[in-house]
Amino acid sequence: MKPLVELKNVVRLYGSGSNQIQALRGLNMVANEGEFIAVMGPSGSGKSTLLNVIGGMDIPTAGTVTVDNVTINDMSESSLDDYRLNKIGFVFQSYNLIPSLTAIRNVELPLLAAGVRPRQAHERAVELFQVVGLENRMSHRPSDLSQGEQQRVAIATALANNPSLILADEPTGNLDSKTAESVVNYIQSIIREHKKTLILVTHDSSIARKADWIHIIRDGVIVSRIRPSDLDSAVSSYDEFLSVRIDQINDEIQLIDAKVKQGDIDGSQYMELRGVLVKTLEVLQSELAKRGHI
Ligand SMILES: Nc1ncnc2c1ncn2[C@@H]1O[C@H](COP(=O)(O)OP(=O)(O)OP(=O)(O)O)[C@@H](O)[C@H]1O
Ligand SMILES: [Mg+2]
Repeated sequence: MKPLVELKNVVRLYGSGSNQIQALRGLNMVANEGEFIAVMGPSGSGKSTLLNVIGGMDIPTAGTVTVDNVTINDMSESSLDDYRLNKIGFVFQSYNLIPSLTAIRNVELPLLAAGVRPRQAHERAVELFQVVGLENRMSHRPSDLSQGEQQRVAIATALANNPSLILADEPTGNLDSKTAESVVNYIQSIIREHKKTLILVTHDSSIARKADWIHIIRDGVIVSRIRPSDLDSAVSSYDEFLSVRIDQINDEIQLIDAKVKQGDIDGSQYMELRGVLVKTLEVLQSELAKRGHI
């Protein structure tokens, strides 16, 4: 299998000094041609940053991002524009359609931006409506379409310039589970048929199960790469790890409570230690609350 996307030691920092946030902290990842990769991870773990960096919408602070044998962090602004327009199809949680334009005009836009003549752009857009099964909705405005239909128009828009890579950031986040499933089935059959690579961020494990691989991201690094059939055991072993740590920290809190009563530690030491433990406990408990999101 040929790698299409390769990230090496990618770091993305935001801000500076004590306000600095490390959104990506030395992330490594490979996506091979034709693969469907689901990315799962808690809120704030760096999923959107990862897609933005791959899509050339954000430049890493350090490390390299190579797509289709080209290192994109070395590209000029104009090559990056070209890259975003022709190599990548983006699908977001909100459909990013222009409300005042009909569905077909929305799909024609990226084609016209890429220099395709209006007549050809129209023909290609009609073809794309067939691909997403919405031939009879082309002249509707987005507000006259259901959410699932709007997302299918957004998929047609993403496919317009025939990109080799589709990046989807929670594309079903706004949809009910049945519509979500049908939208993902559309994306999946299109990428299989047209041999595209798909990197899709989701919180929904039933969607992630459709992928070839699930990459789990935590604190800005990919911590594991598993097959969908291993998802349940990965979730339960992580839950178990969290539960054990929570028990340990509760024990430690009891211990320092006892120590301060006996005078083994003074009040300020106690407050400091307790503060750290309680904070850690909160983080672990909120992680556990996101069970299944892994
Ligand atoms: N433009 C920015 N400026 C400052 N901090 C940012 C910026 N973009 C992202 N971050 C921070 O980087 C971290 C990763 O954010 P990111 O949006 O990639 O997370 P995510 O995994 O997509 O989360 P969610 O599941 O909530 O969408 C977070 O701490 C976030 O607050
Ligand atoms: Mg996000």
